[in-house]
Amino acid sequence: MRRKLPSFVLVLLVALATAGVAAAGNGGFAPIAPHSPNASRITDAYWVVFGFAAFVAVLVESILVAFIIKYRSRGRSRAVEGAQVHGHTRLELIWTVFPVLILAVIAAVVFYELPAIDREPSAATNPIHITVEGHQYYWQFDYPNGARSIGTLHVPAGAVVDLKVVSSDVIHSWWIAALGGKIQAIPGRTNHTWFQANQAGVYHGQCAELCGVFHASMLAGVQAQSLQAYHAYISKTAPATIGQQEWSGVCATCHGNLGQGGYGPAISNNTIITQPAALAGILREGVTGTAGAMPPVGNTWTDGQIAALVRYLKKNIYKPASLGATSGG
Ligand code: CUA
Repeated sequence: MRRKLPSFVLVLLVALATAGVAAAGNGGFAPIAPHSPNASRITDAYWVVFGFAAFVAVLVESILVAFIIKYRSRGRSRAVEGAQVHGHTRLELIWTVFPVLILAVIAAVVFYELPAIDREPSAATNPIHITVEGHQYYWQFDYPNGARSIGTLHVPAGAVVDLKVVSSDVIHSWWIAALGGKIQAIPGRTNHTWFQANQAGVYHGQCAELCGVFHASMLAGVQAQSLQAYHAYISKTAPATIGQQEWSGVCATCHGNLGQGGYGPAISNNTIITQPAALAGILREGVTGTAGAMPPVGNTWTDGQIAALVRYLKKNIYKPASLGATSGG
């Protein structure tokens, strides 16, 4: 029975380790399925590092457990010394050279993958250039023809998309895991990244740099669609839904989905939200006051964007106080 214990423990450990990998298929500690060449290469590098790490972990832990059992005291008194062992040159060489080889392989793989992670394919003709601007607490996208959207970036599936990443206030981090690595949006600096979505669909992401109280609400999305659908979407300088995008992606974060108030005051019955000029002043300049401040969330918004927001607010959010809507102001 005692002889069988070490092998039993070893089998148990291997089973546990492989069960973890199997369960991870996705949604566990495995990276999200890649849908862009750079994301694929990041995932490849991940699995190489993971493979070595898992192998070393299982090996070391198994030997540790085996030695704990083999060299236990067996009722010997604490004062009695155990068997004396001396150096073992070959063993020491192995555990020095082996890790060096592993690190060399990992470094080689990473340096092989890096260039194609960093740079878009040189064969790419006419990548689509889009500016991604980080704001507390939303992402704004400017398309080549001057169109603009908020929250969700629309691109043609299969096209190489070159992103210019900037920030208008604090440091944010653009990250759509299925489409590549993180890139910081830093005030006063322009960063670049790229992706090529290999199939139509919506890819979700999240600001990956703590940027303030609503960092967690700073979601990002990329909608990859057909070329026709993409062109239809950006055909108007302000896409038809821009007012709704501004409301749900920007205003609602602080003022609540219905304008009922939250971190910011209730605004659903405030007449200012129906007045383009007054609203533009608040959005572009912000508000300072003893009761709290509102940042200039719309400091880069056009008149067209603000008009679209007012249209949306009048239709969907504004509830005159006399009709018995929520109170506040
Ligand atoms: Cu923006 Cu976190």
